[in-house]
Amino acid sequence: MATISLAVLASGRGSNLQSIIDACERGDVNAEVKVVISDSKDAYALERAKKHGIDAYFVNIKEYQDKKAYEEKIVDLLQNYSVQLVCLAGYMRLVGPTMLNAFPWQIMNIHPSLLPAFTGLHAQKQALDYGVKVSGCTVHFVDKGMDTGPIILQESVPVYDNDTEDSLAERILVKEHVLYPKAIGLFAENRLMVDGKKVVIE
Ligand code: GRF
Repeated sequence: MATISLAVLASGRGSNLQSIIDACERGDVNAEVKVVISDSKDAYALERAKKHGIDAYFVNIKEYQDKKAYEEKIVDLLQNYSVQLVCLAGYMRLVGPTMLNAFPWQIMNIHPSLLPAFTGLHAQKQALDYGVKVSGCTVHFVDKGMDTGPIILQESVPVYDNDTEDSLAERILVKEHVLYPKAIGLFAENRLMVDGKKVVIE
């Protein structure tokens, strides 16, 4: 099966980006990260990409008239690299119709909770404040909502009485770094079918 071309969009440190690059380089998934794009100039994700010889771009939303123009620029870049799957990894913006229409069910995100619980920011703190005994992470396809798209894979972790936001985040992150490459691998093998709200894994 042919290797699929990935893009990763990240706003921050990029540890998920790193796990994706590593899984591709090891040959665990039949994919290659062709381009990394950030909306933040100082994102460490951009450095990680460069260290692996991957083209990396900062796209400054302030240079564009509106979100549509900003996303048109991103779509242009993605199409220039013939990207087949876009992976959001700590990308801190809601994806708009311009990107969604250009990449139907070809955009994934990872979120540090067991969705549909605790969408949005500070998911780990939300979980602690709620008092759940189990949390985890979710890889899902992106739709127009915030962390609402069809769920591809989930992994759970225990929540302990003495957990802090950081200790829980760290426990979840270990699982994220395995789960995201696994979901990408399934996509690359063409095994993910979206059926309404459900993702069927063939
Ligand atoms: C991760 O916890 C991910 O689930 C969330 O943002 C964080 C990004 O971390 N969407 P990193 O930049 O991949 O290290």
